Amino acid sequence: MNFFKVSEESIKEGAEIIKNGGLVAFPTETVYGLGADAFNPFAIAKIFDVKNRPHFDPLIIHIAEIKTLDEIADLSLLNSETKKKLFLLAEKFWPGPLSIILPKNKKIPDIATAGLQTAAIRIPDNETALKLISLSAGAIAAPSANPFGSLSPTRAEHVRESLGEKIDLILDGGQSRIGVESTVLDISDDSIKILRPGGTPREAIFQITGIREQETETRITNVECGIRNEELEIVSQESGVKFNSPGLLKSHYAPKARLFVMSKDEILKQDCKIENYASQKTAFLFFDAETRDAWRYAQMPHDDIIVNVLSESGSMIEAASHLFEILHELDNCGVSVIYAQEAPHHGLGEAINDRLKRGASV
Ligand code: TXA
Ligand code: MG
Repeated sequence: MNFFKVSEESIKEGAEIIKNGGLVAFPTETVYGLGADAFNPFAIAKIFDVKNRPHFDPLIIHIAEIKTLDEIADLSLLNSETKKKLFLLAEKFWPGPLSIILPKNKKIPDIATAGLQTAAIRIPDNETALKLISLSAGAIAAPSANPFGSLSPTRAEHVRESLGEKIDLILDGGQSRIGVESTVLDISDDSIKILRPGGTPREAIFQITGIREQETETRITNVECGIRNEELEIVSQESGVKFNSPGLLKSHYAPKARLFVMSKDEILKQDCKIENYASQKTAFLFFDAETRDAWRYAQMPHDDIIVNVLSESGSMIEAASHLFEILHELDNCGVSVIYAQEAPHHGLGEAINDRLKRGASV
């Protein structure tokens, strides 16, 4: 495995590797991706192998320009309303953290989409990613560059630590700007469904399209989490709506530590007496400094307890960009229990809470 800082040369080398069927980890604005030629089924099979990813979990296809969408998607299968929605969203949010589910073009091998006839497609907002795509296959299939089910990587070092020798090249482009994955969107019905909350907030999507969302349940409680060798069907408890998006597995994005997610009121009540924490290395992860300070005032913190905050000022953007970063750090310090405060449940807070809850469900 080579580990190179991003440069003209290293991107060119990455593009050659991808064209030759290899795997390259590369930066995007959300998290690092593990990329392969989207048209090469053998290269894509390696992604599943390296990540230990179940074959029922489809990949996101990354392109560099809207005009190449035709190569990946079969837009002739869309009705005019859906086409309108697609271009409204694409023009507003691409490049950016929004993956749109579209009927797939036959050139995309079934293994990339886990046998589904649809593909999740996005244009990442990152110069390195865009160059790599343009110089290689024109389309790169890439999940997040982490072992299946574990924390997503927001630094090249995270990729090196977890997948290291199993891949051909890691392009180091520094810390990911957004820090949570893209929003995954199904626009096929009259409405729009968010299959995975992410870097493009729900409010922005509905403001642009003016279409009312069909409420989808993303806080799934009755999902079978075991990995099965067949496609996973997820049923929303409230609406009974069925859809396939294995990223909605209840248990995902998990740190090694046991993670407990709490509301502001609940975390403030967490009693920090020494005897409670003496046997386990414990961390508190607050959303903002205000809550942390209120908690500190009420408690007599024990020196061994690690106290972290997602954003001192309570900025949602900063909090999202620190989330995986801090969870990785806590794992590296050998923390065994984390008490995390929920973010306010709007904007990027929805993605933050989704990742925290899934990380807590192990
Ligand atoms: O920001 C991101 O989305 C990152 C960067 C690398 O682009 N990628 C990423 O990929 O998070 P991954 O594989 O970790 O998550 C992809 C999600 C999964 O939840 C998967 O189930 C869903 O997208 N997905 C992919 N294709 C789909 C499809 N055809 N229908 C429904 N869900 C799909
Ligand atoms: Mg992932």
